[in-house]
Amino acid sequence: MRLRVRPIARLSGRVEVPGDKSISHRAALLGALAEGTTDIRGYLEAEDCLRTIAAVEALGAEVTRKGPGEYRIAGVGRRGFCEPDDVIDCGNSGTAVRLLFGVLAGQPFWTFLTGDESLRRRPMKRIAEPLARMGATIIGRGDGSRLPLGVRGLAQLKALAYESPVASAQVKSAVLFAGLYADGPVSVTEPAASRDHSEVMLRQFGVSIERRGLTTTLTPGPLSSAPVVVPGDISSAAFPLIAGAIVKDARVTVAGVGLNPTRTGVLDVLQAMGVEIHTARDGGEALERSRGAAGEARGDVTVSSSALRGTEIGGALIPRLIDEVPVLAVAAALAEGRTEIKDAAELRVKESDRLAALARELGRMGARVSERPNGLIIDGPARLRGAHVTSGGDHRIAMALAVAGLVAEGETVIDDTECIATSFPRFADLLNTLAGQTCVSVTE
Ligand code: S3P
Repeated sequence: MRLRVRPIARLSGRVEVPGDKSISHRAALLGALAEGTTDIRGYLEAEDCLRTIAAVEALGAEVTRKGPGEYRIAGVGRRGFCEPDDVIDCGNSGTAVRLLFGVLAGQPFWTFLTGDESLRRRPMKRIAEPLARMGATIIGRGDGSRLPLGVRGLAQLKALAYESPVASAQVKSAVLFAGLYADGPVSVTEPAASRDHSEVMLRQFGVSIERRGLTTTLTPGPLSSAPVVVPGDISSAAFPLIAGAIVKDARVTVAGVGLNPTRTGVLDVLQAMGVEIHTARDGGEALERSRGAAGEARGDVTVSSSALRGTEIGGALIPRLIDEVPVLAVAAALAEGRTEIKDAAELRVKESDRLAALARELGRMGARVSERPNGLIIDGPARLRGAHVTSGGDHRIAMALAVAGLVAEGETVIDDTECIATSFPRFADLLNTLAGQTCVSVTE
């Protein structure tokens, strides 16, 4: 599948983006492990999160779809999963597989997990190593470091104080989820704070979680069900918002976006780049509703066309915007001066090597992007021109290139765009709605 993108001069309106991917995965998994029934609203019905639903069903939980984005999960309790009768395929989803590993480390049976070509290339030692230290057995390719992998857990794992070498919420969550089955408190210390959706939701499900500095400690115990309302995904909102900053005559509002401070680095950077941006957090009744049901802050974000300037993005900011780097690179290419993105080697092990992909594909469109081992140097402002580019099977590269195409001269053709369905199924429609015309079309 290909996207064809035509440049536009105007973008305006108020839209909503699909539910948060990270929160949706966690809601399915924790809902299945809870005692009682969990009702979820705003679940992301995209391929990645549907894989997690299929996985908990394969492990014995009953899931009912009540309507668009609405699911009811009959929890089986943390010891209620049973051995699946087939390999669980996590598709493209690193979050699905790594979070599942954490839970499976506490199950006294074998489970085999695999994924698509991209996921089978991604590193799994980062979770296999701490889980093995807790007592799980993990076998498979590359000495247990690449999917397909088999995991046999133990009903009671050893407690662990884990110093994670990477600021990764997937690693942190896998160890904390395994901690539900440990014989004592389990802690994870990270080099920088990663997203804390697991902690927020575990607390809501009645599990004791404490945070001191960069160390999070979980005390094992049962989970009791709680309703979950999933806010819009700020990682998806970043595409229309940055489009709103770079298109000549634009004002775009994305309503109901998750504003958890561990995820809002993109808004901080846009502000530092000179973007006119306004955030209205839900207050009063809306806040009660969203806090009561999801424990996560949310609100509306509005962006208008702005003159952008280059900035530095590194250090503790990186985990707060890790998935937004592709579209931030587009903003940087159009900004006056230099943008340096550093401390971002993690981007090489995402759905694709995003540093290499951005340098190569944005370069084809006339951006001046040079690759560094841990980041990118982007010199602007560039005059982007339409080109024939490819996503390399990575949804966020595909969508970032489409946003670049909105301000390029001539038509941009993006190959290999089925992957957008993993996180943002109606992405093209949303841009066309804001444009009031068809600027993005889908062809074979
Ligand atoms: C995620 C964590 C991040 C992020 C991914 C979702 C999560 O990965 O890139 O899209 O839901 O925990 P890492 O934890 O590997 O940094």
